[in-house]
Formats: sequence, C-alpha cells, structure tokens
Amino acid sequence: MSRRIIIDTDPGQDDAVAILLALASPDEIEVLGITAVAGNVPLALTQKNARIVCELAGRTDIRIFAGCDRPLERPLITAEHVHGKTGLNGPTLPDPTMPLQDAHGVDFIIETLRQEPPGTVTLCPLGPLTNIATAFARAPDIVGRVQEIVLMGGAYFEVGNITPSAEFNIYVDPHAADAVFRSGVPVTVMSLDVTHKALVTRPRNDAFRAIGNRVGEAVAAMTDFFERFDKEKYGSEGAPLHDPCVTAYLIRPELFTGRHINVEVETTSPLTLGMTVADWWRVTKRAPNAMFMGTIDDDGYFALLTERLARL
Ligand code: RIB
Ligand code: CA
Repeated sequence: MSRRIIIDTDPGQDDAVAILLALASPDEIEVLGITAVAGNVPLALTQKNARIVCELAGRTDIRIFAGCDRPLERPLITAEHVHGKTGLNGPTLPDPTMPLQDAHGVDFIIETLRQEPPGTVTLCPLGPLTNIATAFARAPDIVGRVQEIVLMGGAYFEVGNITPSAEFNIYVDPHAADAVFRSGVPVTVMSLDVTHKALVTRPRNDAFRAIGNRVGEAVAAMTDFFERFDKEKYGSEGAPLHDPCVTAYLIRPELFTGRHINVEVETTSPLTLGMTVADWWRVTKRAPNAMFMGTIDDDGYFALLTERLARL
C-alpha cells in the first residue's frame, strides 16, 4: 500500500537525498507536493533548492510551494556553517527552470488534507515544523485527517547538535514543535538517536558515486561537502544522513525500532530551549504521543539508498 505524502523541507543536502529517495520509489511513495520552509537556509533558497533537486531527479511535474519564512515566535536561525551558503553546496547544479507554485505552502497543506480522504495523507517534515503548526492553527479541522507525521527532529540519548540540549529542527521553532507533539496526530520521530547511527562513511559515499548516474555523482558531492562539519565536530567516520531516515521508514519500516513514549518540547528555558524531553524509561505518567525511534539497520539503510538512487 503506497503512502501519499507531503514533504515539508529545508534543503539541505540531507533533505535532498530524502526527496530523491521518495521520488525513486513510486511503488511505495506518491509525492503529492513539496512545501519549503525556512531552516538550514532562508526560504528563498530552500524553495529554490527543492526545485533544483526535483529537476535533478527529472521530476519537473512535482508541485513545489514556498511556506513560512520564519518561526512562529523566535528569530530565524540558519545553518550555513553545515550546509554552505546555498544550502546545497557540493555539486554544481543548474538553477531551476521549473516553476514555484503560487499558493502558499501552508494553504497547500490545508487544501490537500481537506480534499483527500481522511487518514490517507502522511506529512513528512524534514526541517523546522513551522508550516505544519501554522496549518494546524489556521485549520484545526485538518488535524484529525492526517494519517501520520513522520519527522526528522529531536534527540534524547544524543542530546543536542545546535545547542548542548537541542536538535536543530526543533530548536529553530520550538513553539511549532510543541504544537505538533501536542496535536494528537500519530507522530513517528527520527531523532538524532537514530540518525547518528546512519553515518555516510567513505565506502558508503563511494558506493553512491559508483552508481554512475548524475544523481549518484551529485549525492556523493553533497556528502563530501556536508560531512566535513560533523566529522570535525564528532571525530566520526562520516556525517549522519538525517532526513532520508524519514522516507526510508515509509519504504522499509523494519529498518527501524523504537518505543511509543511521551515526548514534550521545552519552549521557555533559555538553557534547554528546543529540547525534546523523551520519557524513554516511562518514569512519568505523561501519555505516550510519539513513536520515538532508537535504532536503525544502517547497512540496510545505505543499501536501500544506493539501490534506489540508481533508479533515477
Ligand atoms: O539536525 C538535523 C536536521 O537539521 C536535518 O533535517 C538537517 O537538514 C537540518 O534541517
Ligand atoms: Ca532538513
């Protein structure tokens, strides 16, 4: 049974690979549209990068929308130090010629959920949750119509990557994340606890390059750029390939294991703002609200990525 999804994204090299994996898997995933959000880089670049990636995949039919250009309450924080000035540094890719849709990304999310049968659309946020939270606030009637939210964000055992206690997507817009985790929608969380076990080592990136098509070459070049920050910071063998965990889950959920637990977001403390407080050991009586993933079959993950990217 294929999933019908909206990808909400802030490309970002890892977002790009997540989008490419989805587009390479039409038997499992139907991409209804892509909504860009400000995050890794400002909105003007994330919407442009989403179009660049779809053109790289030869999918100029995909509808791409610009969403929110700043968090609900906080000033925008970006991550050019990780992703480069364009947000898609690494490969040399042509500027997009495919159009950006006129409608606002939030309106597209609302209209799609109202038009499609309840429980048939999965939201796949790969960046700050601003668009999702704005859609829920503007149209509460759509909340109960969402099949599932499968997101990349948060951390528990891995704690933070942008502050000592917070993961970037949640930290940029903690108020939006709080609204999403409290929404009652089934949420599956690909946190740093999982993505930090999915490192693009040299052999894995060589396998991307050895695919021999322009997608494999572009992904390998993205990783060559993207990995330098994490390798230097963590001294690891490669960079975590965060966002494709979301689309890989839709194709092969068995690659992941986790627990259905309570997750709440810190929205006020200056010290721990954006922290996802995951009750992994169930020490509170707070009701479970998220499937919080903890492990990944990383060899299986990279085998899936390499096999699917070769199809584009
Ligand atoms: O913390 C990792 C997340 O932040 C990923 O989604 C990456 O693309 C950035 O958005
Ligand atoms: Ca992202």
